[in-house]
Amino acid sequence: MNIMKNNILVLGGKGKTGRKVAERLTKLDQMVRIGSRSETPSFDWQDPLTWSAALKGMDKVYITFQPDLAVPGALEAIEGLTKEAKRCGIKKLVLLSGKGEREAELCEQVVINSGIDYTIVRASWFNQNFSESFFLDPILAGHVALPQAQVKVPYVDTDDIADVAVAALLNEQHNGQIYQLTGPRLLTFEEVIKEIAMATGRDIVFTSISLSAYTKMLEEFGVPADYIWLISYLFSEVLGAEGNDIVTHDIEKVLGRKPKDFSKYVQEVAAMRVWNPVTNVQADKVVS
Ligand SMILES: NC(=O)c1ccc[n+]([C@@H]2O[C@H](COP(=O)([O-])OP(=O)(O)OC[C@H]3O[C@@H](n4cnc5c(N)ncnc54)[C@H](OP(=O)(O)O)[C@@H]3O)[C@@H](O)[C@H]2O)c1
Repeated sequence: MNIMKNNILVLGGKGKTGRKVAERLTKLDQMVRIGSRSETPSFDWQDPLTWSAALKGMDKVYITFQPDLAVPGALEAIEGLTKEAKRCGIKKLVLLSGKGEREAELCEQVVINSGIDYTIVRASWFNQNFSESFFLDPILAGHVALPQAQVKVPYVDTDDIADVAVAALLNEQHNGQIYQLTGPRLLTFEEVIKEIAMATGRDIVFTSISLSAYTKMLEEFGVPADYIWLISYLFSEVLGAEGNDIVTHDIEKVLGRKPKDFSKYVQEVAAMRVWNPVTNVQADKVVS
């Protein structure tokens, strides 16, 4: 395939989806700039003065907002960034959004009405929340206690999200589209933990608890208040939201192949021993 060379800014380019988007684009001979606080030029969502240097000379932008499009201030940040992108002559925006998040949909509208070509990639909860994010520590500890145990989620893999984002960045046929990405089947937390326990051969206990007990537990662990707010919002407003338990077919529509099954993700991560706690003896060996 002959693809034109583009300069593409990947915001959150070291994160769960951005890292994979950047890798794929580089393999396709695209010029990639990672947008993050630890890069030069540095990009910080909290500091609008850093935005123009990161956007300068770029043609297209993959936007992931940290920590989440639902947090206070996200809408203003997306408004500010799209304005600056227009001023800098950016020709295409691909926004990573969340399924069933009212606040995220307001941010989508900003991108849709920006006057710049766009694609919205609206994803379900990621598989990688269990290996690269907030569910990893309890899995390592061998005891996962979560609310909303009955809710079924069509978890989606970040490999599939990255493939769709790259297609959207490089092909005009995806302009003006809103893609809803899910994995191929629904799972409860208990079913997820069972699969991980089986694949790792570990004893991992799942306990269903109330949302208030969960937030209290996070407080006791010293988790910052704004993070607890976000987690409560995700569990109360997003997880059980209407339509969030529907399996979609947009990954197949865009990529012409089926999305990755949760079991395949579990096998891959288990093989890398991400879910095997390092014992003190092993840790000593690594250090020495
Ligand atoms: N997790 C899910 O299940 C899910 C589902 C649907 C949608 N989403 C959406 O996914 C988005 C996050 O995308 P992601 O998970 O791919 O990214 P991510 O993994 O959260 O991105 C992490 C990277 O972002 C950078 N970062 C952190 N704070 C920053 C800041 N203030 N300014 C600039 N960069 C910052 C960090 O690099 P530095 O430390 O170098 O800055 C870090 O490497 C959220 O908006 C969320 O709504 C998530």
